[in-house]
Amino acid sequence: MAHQQAALPVPTNAPTGLSAPARPRRITVPWVRARKVRDGGEPLVMVTAYDAPGARIADDAGVDMILVGDSLAMVVLGYDDTLSVTIDDMAHHTAAVARAKPSALVVGDLPWMSYHVSTEDTVRNAAQLIRAGAQCVKLEGGTKRVPMIDSLVDAEIPVIGHLGLTPQSMHAMGGFRVQAKQSEAALALVSDAKALSHAGCFAIVLEGVPDEVARMVTDAVDVPTIGIGAGPGCDGQVLVYHDLLGIEDRLAPKFVRRYADLKTAAVDAVAAYAADVRSGAFPAAAESYHLGAEVAETLGLYGHAG
Ligand code: KIV
Repeated sequence: MAHQQAALPVPTNAPTGLSAPARPRRITVPWVRARKVRDGGEPLVMVTAYDAPGARIADDAGVDMILVGDSLAMVVLGYDDTLSVTIDDMAHHTAAVARAKPSALVVGDLPWMSYHVSTEDTVRNAAQLIRAGAQCVKLEGGTKRVPMIDSLVDAEIPVIGHLGLTPQSMHAMGGFRVQAKQSEAALALVSDAKALSHAGCFAIVLEGVPDEVARMVTDAVDVPTIGIGAGPGCDGQVLVYHDLLGIEDRLAPKFVRRYADLKTAAVDAVAAYAADVRSGAFPAAAESYHLGAEVAETLGLYGHAG
């Protein structure tokens, strides 16, 4: 179903009309880093993708950034949470996205346990995603991740932070719950965001936090914030591909807007194919290969040649 853009409320951080740097042919980390809405940038558009066709669709739609997210675990690989994907899984899907050669920036998501053990491990795992074709990586967590971010920046690997509802901490958080709803937690989130930006993160994803808190963070840091379930006050937005296209229809979190109903369209199409096979309507003569008349005659197949 087409979305009615005209009905959308105008965010209070809407572009001021100041001139922003022109969009490069291939999106770069410095270009994203400079995209603060308060400095005149248009909000950044990020979407997840996990394979080459998904990357081509996202790129043809003109998104700025493609996140090969560890949501791969849930929307593609059938797990109940993100904890089961490995760095090898992430590299495999990052490579598939990169083969589409998108002009959008490709972000490789570091999975759980790929950056928790040591800084050496973190750099080695991030390098695997960069070698697979990512231009930067994303990791979850606040101040305690600063040593890992330092070592990535030292290794010339650009990093995006991820704060708020961080799915890799689901057991510690007691489930997928909106974070920073109390003043102390809100202030801690702002302080974590400052620490990440100070350590060299060039953008910060804010997930599952109240709009007001996302605005506090966005005001407090010089790097762009990219929200998911964090209201319109961020410097950009990200959605999971399968959610926005209505391929994933089991869960419908409040922050998801479905711009299509591809699950229904796909089920209807496959059901029509099944009915045609069962009735003999598929394949038709025009969808089949045929012998030439001479060969058919040699084989005694009169009346069968196309
Ligand atoms: O893995 C993912 O898809 C993400 C987004 C929800 C930001 O991390």
